[in-house]
Parts: sequence; C-alpha cells; structure tokens
Amino acid sequence: MGNCFPNPVDNFSSTNKISTPVDFVSGEKKKGPVIRKQPSAVEGGGDESGGGGREAVVPASGNIVTPNLRCYTYSELRSATRNFRPDTVLGEGGFGRVFKGWVDGETYAPSKVGIGIPVAVKKSNPDSPQGLKEWQAEVKFLGKFSHPNLVKLVGYCWEDREFLLVYEYMQKGSLENHLFKKGAEPLSWSTRMKIATGAAQGLDFLHTTEKTVIYRDFKSANILLDSDLNAKLSDFGLAKLGPANGESHVSTGVVGTYGYAAPEYIATGHLYVRSDVYGFGVVLLEMITGLRVLDTNRPSSEHNLVDWARSSLADKRKLRKIIDPRLENDYPSKGTVKAAELILSCLESDPKNRPSMEEVLVRLQEISAIKTKPRETKVHASQPTGPHRDRHYHSARQSPLHVKNGGGRANQLSPMRSY
Ligand SMILES: Nc1ncnc2c1ncn2[C@@H]1O[C@H](COP(=O)(O)OP(=O)(O)O)[C@@H](O)[C@H]1O
Ligand SMILES: [Mg+2]
Repeated sequence: MGNCFPNPVDNFSSTNKISTPVDFVSGEKKKGPVIRKQPSAVEGGGDESGGGGREAVVPASGNIVTPNLRCYTYSELRSATRNFRPDTVLGEGGFGRVFKGWVDGETYAPSKVGIGIPVAVKKSNPDSPQGLKEWQAEVKFLGKFSHPNLVKLVGYCWEDREFLLVYEYMQKGSLENHLFKKGAEPLSWSTRMKIATGAAQGLDFLHTTEKTVIYRDFKSANILLDSDLNAKLSDFGLAKLGPANGESHVSTGVVGTYGYAAPEYIATGHLYVRSDVYGFGVVLLEMITGLRVLDTNRPSSEHNLVDWARSSLADKRKLRKIIDPRLENDYPSKGTVKAAELILSCLESDPKNRPSMEEVLVRLQEISAIKTKPRETKVHASQPTGPHRDRHYHSARQSPLHVKNGGGRANQLSPMRSY
C-alpha cells in the first residue's frame, strides 16, 4: 500500500512541511549535467529557509491552490503505463524516466492504456536519495501552483522506495527536442517568441508569487509544449524558496545544469532570483541560434555558445550570421536585434544589472509585435559562420552533456569542475 498525505498538502506553510519517513540526505546530486559544490545541511526545494516576508502578488492568470493531488498506488501506475514499457518512454532526466500512461479524463483514476486521457508518469530511481528530494520539491511546489505556464501535477505515488509523479501530458514534448533533435520540424520565429513569452510568464509567476520561488533549472529540456505549442515549465525538483526579510539572495549548495546556471551562483553559492534570468537569457540565445549552449562536438572556441556568441549579439551585421538557418531568413531583423539586446542584458555578470522577468516580458511583447517585412527574407541571406557553417553536427549528435546513459546520471560532472 502506498503512502498518501492525510490532508491536502499545504506546500507553502512553514509549519506544515511535508513529512516523509525517510531522512533527507544532506548535499545534492542533480540529474544530467550537474554542478555540485559545498553540500549544505538543508538543501533543495524541501528547504523552507528564506521564504516569507513578501507581499502576496499573484498575477491574475496564476494561483496558489490547495492541492488536490491524487495518490496512486505503484501497481495502478504500473498498469497505466503497461508495466513501464520502454516504448512508452517520453523522456529521461537525472531523476529517472518519464512514461506515457492513461487515466480517466474526469476523475484521474488510473486507466488502461489507450482509455481516458494520457498523462506523463515520472519514475525515480528507487536507490537515489536525490530522486527522493526532487520528488518532494515537485510535490511541494508544483502541487501547489495553478498557472497556464506551469505543467499541472495530477498526483503522486510513494510506496516503499518507489517515488513517482503524474503530470498532465504535454503532447509536443520539450523545447530541447524541437530545437535540437534531428528531423524535428523547425519552429517559426513567431512560435519561438510565443514559447519564450510563455516560459517567461511561468518564471515571472514564480518570482512574484506569495513567497518568491527560484526555479534554479531553467533550460530548454524543462520547457514543455502542449498541442498548440504553449510553453509550460516542468521539473520543479530544484525549485527553492527565494530570499526573505530584505535579503538579496539565499546561500545554498550549487546545483543545476552547466551552461544555464548563473556565474555568481556557481562561483559563490549565492542564489538570486535573477540567477534564473541568466538561464532565461541562455535559452533565448539557444532559441534564436538553434544551437545548444554547450556542445563539445563544435570546435573548441565554440564549445560554449554564450562565450562564442557574445560579440555577435552586440553587432548587427555579425548577428545575422548566428541566427538559426532553419528559419530560412524568415524573421524580422529589428526583432533579432532587440532579442539580442535582451539576451545580453539577461547575461549580465552582475545579477543586479539583469532585468526582472516582468521587464523581460514587456520586452518580449515588443519583440513579438515586430513583424517580418516582405523584402527581409532576401536581405538576410548570407553565408553562415561559426557553428552554423557545418550545421549537420549539432542535430546529428547530441552534446555529451545531454547524452543519456542508463539512468541519465552518466553526465554528472564532478563537484568542482570549472564552468
Ligand atoms: N508532462 C510531460 N509530458 C510529456 N513529456 C514529458 C513530460 N514531463 C517530462 N517529459 C519528458 O521527459 C523529460 C524529462 O522530464 P523531467 O521532468 O525534466 O525529468 P528530470 O527531473 O529527470 O529532469 C523531458 O525533457 C520531456 O522530454
Ligand atoms: Mg529535467
């Protein structure tokens, strides 16, 4: 029999922590390409430190709700996914694998494959203390929020060493797959801006909600797309309450994903709300170039997209050469210039100089309003340089940092490896 929370979980009350029978292990090990440094005693989203002290500012489009999560048994989820059959795998991260399963469309009761509505079932590696911590953080944060740009958590299962999560199914998968997977249908400029705006709205909601939440793992693999290509943030395993009482940051062990994590956080363990804004800038750069932030299959000077692209972002003529050729020149020049300015401001090394997500949203709306002029498609045509000149490699081969191997943990980086 599984363990269900007796009452709706109040994920946001410091007096009402989710209790589990398992002691949480100090320090963090994170999925995929992970940064780990200076383990701290209380870590991850399960930590209540730093919360409170902010006025409740909940945008009209989002809400904090009393969660009504369904508690599933392991055997229910096993049958809903046909015994976690490999052909139902939707994706994989460091936490474990994500399977497609089926539940009743109204009650969310487990169903048989093909009957009812599809859901995504994330199954942790039973022996991973980190999997348990991330599971708890997801229930704590995602289980509490209702927002059009956050994936809905439907329920959970906690049974012996098995920890699973059940989410709404996101038909079009991750942004990462759309940008980088071989054979993926290219996304138009306007769709890219729509996705960026949706993801920014999700992040803005987290930053301005009752108690500030820092997402900590903003990256293209964690942005999921529904059937209409609306973006929703998923994977709240590293989410953390933000600073309170006038503090500028929270001090914490360093986790996240190389390439996307902000430099001040990697260097000092000081996590700012605007550390998330850095990650947003990286993803926006991936979106306009169609290139992964880190790819060691590229020549060494181009391994890190941020380092390589920085000078081109500040130069209109060079900028044209780094725009994703799969856009086939169908984009507004002025829009790319404004997007490049926005990216550079998000990538500022001092978090104080980065815009808030609210400001990012305003600027994205302005960018989205700029339309391609009919003559522009011809004007843009020029020889690509840098990673685009032999583009085949990036879609054909994944960055080693994203290579999945077994449980997806083979890419964990050693704790102090330089950024
Ligand atoms: N709700 C969902 N609908 C469809 N695919 C999903 C869903 N959740 C996750 N996936 C797929 O599984 C991958 C890993 O999921 P994620 O929640 O990021 O796991 P992890 O915590 O292990 O990183 C995603 O990048 C995506 O491809
Ligand atoms: Mg993930």
